[in-house]
Amino acid sequence: MNRLTKATLMEFPKICDPRGNLSFIEGTRHVPFPIKRVFYIYDVPGGETRGAHAHRQCAEVLIAVAGSLEVRLTDGEKEVSFLLNRSNRGLLIPPGTWRTMHDFTTGTVVVALCSREYEEEDYIRDYEEFEKFVASLPEEKRAIL
Ligand code: TYD
Repeated sequence: MNRLTKATLMEFPKICDPRGNLSFIEGTRHVPFPIKRVFYIYDVPGGETRGAHAHRQCAEVLIAVAGSLEVRLTDGEKEVSFLLNRSNRGLLIPPGTWRTMHDFTTGTVVVALCSREYEEEDYIRDYEEFEKFVASLPEEKRAIL
């Protein structure tokens, strides 16, 4: 998966049942990469913001399995925002996209499915460095949102 892949909302299977609903996700089948890592964010105090970074190579799918939040993405020029509030909805974030997570409601649990194992050197955590990273790309690869 490369930086030109579009950020998109995806729907995962949902098996509705009077005993409770069930969703499932298989790497490569329901997300466009083999899943190498899963992490989750929870117990976020009201008003906190998370994220504020981009990855050079790692693609992620974020899912609010409980609760809701807003995810803002930018390619360095344009900004788009997505509401995650369904347990079977995911947001595919291609590499090279700056993301911030806002407005977590109480009890929100965000699961992230990742295409790569944890590598701190894959992170760009400084927005000016992200702008330099984007500026270093060929012009046709800069605008992705
Ligand atoms: P961080 O990337 O700052 O969280 P977020 O961007 O979602 O707000 O991660 C917090 C800490 O957890 C940081 O020290 C790195 C560590 N961490 C791991 O060790 N492994 C992981 O897979 C992730 C996502 C984070």
